[in-house]
Amino acid sequence: MIIAIIAAMDPEGIIGKDGVLPWSIPEEMEFFTQSTMGHVLLMGRKTYQSLRIKPLPGRTSLVVSSDKSFQVADGVLLFDDLDEAEEKARELTQGNEKLLFVIGGRALFEAYLPKADLLYLTRVEASFEGDTRFPDYDPEQWSEITSQRHSSSVGIEFSTSISIRKNAGEELLAMCSRLIKSK
Ligand SMILES: NC(=O)c1ccc[n+]([C@@H]2O[C@H](COP(=O)([O-])OP(=O)(O)OC[C@H]3O[C@@H](n4cnc5c(N)ncnc54)[C@H](OP(=O)(O)O)[C@@H]3O)[C@@H](O)[C@H]2O)c1
Repeated sequence: MIIAIIAAMDPEGIIGKDGVLPWSIPEEMEFFTQSTMGHVLLMGRKTYQSLRIKPLPGRTSLVVSSDKSFQVADGVLLFDDLDEAEEKARELTQGNEKLLFVIGGRALFEAYLPKADLLYLTRVEASFEGDTRFPDYDPEQWSEITSQRHSSSVGIEFSTSISIRKNAGEELLAMCSRLIKSK
């Protein structure tokens, strides 16, 4: 299974404030939607609660929480164990070119940074107040395969990049090349 982390941060690594995103940039949301459409999503309970539309359409959502009775929308799969959630994701992605996208928040990014194959990062080019940061990671372990600058209708510029882990195998490289060509 190919695991991708997708995250957006400000120049100081801020990703969240009071349980939601610190910014509202429709074009950045569009990048997230296009990148993740059709794939499988894994998220923490707080990120799930922050979503305005539940579940996100066109994608299977897996949510982790220690609260087994946490209520999720129809179609969303709840797990109290990250390994079990990952096992389900493996089943759902097997043989169909689907990726597992880890969409946050910090707890999930921390858990998956050591083992993700792909890193989709948005860098918002404005500073925000916040209470949640992207975890520290070593950029030397990643090779950037695409990057793009974007303007937005709300006047905030941002850049998006996709990076691949440096020791990526042949299968991953081939899949990335197909994914990028199909965008
Ligand atoms: N900018 C971005 O790219 C981005 C992306 C996503 C989220 N965010 C922001 O980040 C903030 C939320 O992030 P967060 O780090 O505070 O929370 P989070 O990772 O979304 O959720 C944390 C919760 O997930 C559950 N969880 C985590 N690991 C688990 C495990 N191993 N087993 C079982 N349950 C587990 C726990 O839920 P219980 O407490 O129910 O046990 C934990 O409290 C929000 O502000 C959100 O808007 C930003």
